[in-house]
Amino acid sequence: SKPRVLVTRYVPYIFEQLERAHVDVDVFERDDVAIPREELLRRVQACDGILCMLTDQIDHEVLASAGSKLKVVSTMSVGYNHISVDECRAKGIAIGFTPGVLDTSTAETAIALTFMAKRHAMASVNSAKNGEWGVWQPFQYCGSDVEGSTVGIVGLGRIGAKYAQIMKTAFNCRILYTGPKEKPEVAEPLRAQFCSLNELLGESDIVSVHCPLTTSTRHLFNADTFPLMKSSAVFINTSRGPVVNQDALYDALVAKQLAAAGLDVTDPEPLPVDNKLFTLPNCTIFPHIGSATIKTRQAMADIAIQNVLAGIYNKPLPHAV
Ligand code: GLV
Ligand code: GLV
Repeated sequence: SKPRVLVTRYVPYIFEQLERAHVDVDVFERDDVAIPREELLRRVQACDGILCMLTDQIDHEVLASAGSKLKVVSTMSVGYNHISVDECRAKGIAIGFTPGVLDTSTAETAIALTFMAKRHAMASVNSAKNGEWGVWQPFQYCGSDVEGSTVGIVGLGRIGAKYAQIMKTAFNCRILYTGPKEKPEVAEPLRAQFCSLNELLGESDIVSVHCPLTTSTRHLFNADTFPLMKSSAVFINTSRGPVVNQDALYDALVAKQLAAAGLDVTDPEPLPVDNKLFTLPNCTIFPHIGSATIKTRQAMADIAIQNVLAGIYNKPLPHAV
């Protein structure tokens, strides 16, 4: 019989491509909600491969529910913190992800947030819209220029390096970076300087987070670290929400320990509309749109399809974790 692939979200393109590849496709019928947990647990039992989204927790319970025929978990994302990697490895289940194709889109999202934060864009937009803006004033709504800033990159991976490259070449920024290890071959063309997190926080005008969510980066930004930032600095996060202790970020913004924040990711997602971060004019929150361009999402879908097809036929994945 044909191999069976569970697709956890209704994406016509993915469905059509898999049908064309002569696999038996079990697709969740909706594109506007994540597959309910009980549906995932039930449907996973019969499949050889899963094509999932970052909204699906592929954890012990799901892997236990899956039959022994499950060979591959292919996520349409570069992040894979929602997948129990160790358990997949132990069970010989391949994991596919989508690195490389979303670096530019995500770096550009971080740049958009950087300018929002540096130029008080939230407060300005609201003021223009709600009639608060009376007349042009010489020193109203003034922020600071991005050009010539010192930029601290937390995690100089593909996306962090792309952001750093744009900030350096377009805006003549000085680049600092931190992470588990020095990356001389990436750092050298950027003339990026490796330093500790504490040093980076103390020196940067812009701190931009590009690390994966792991046990060592969970709440890396907390009540001990935010106060180390310059009071004029901005904090940008396009990685994963739980890298930040949001209560600590709120307190730090209110205490003016930093000037502004731009977040593409929160914990949870969506952030409840009554969350106190929404009350702050100096905190911009995007609905996880880092990779959200047509071109990039198309490329991510293609890689996720190729990964799941390789996995169900026991071939090496083009992009394996
Ligand atoms: C988006 O957050 C991704 O991991 O691709
Ligand atoms: C993260 O996976 C990156 O590509 O930087």
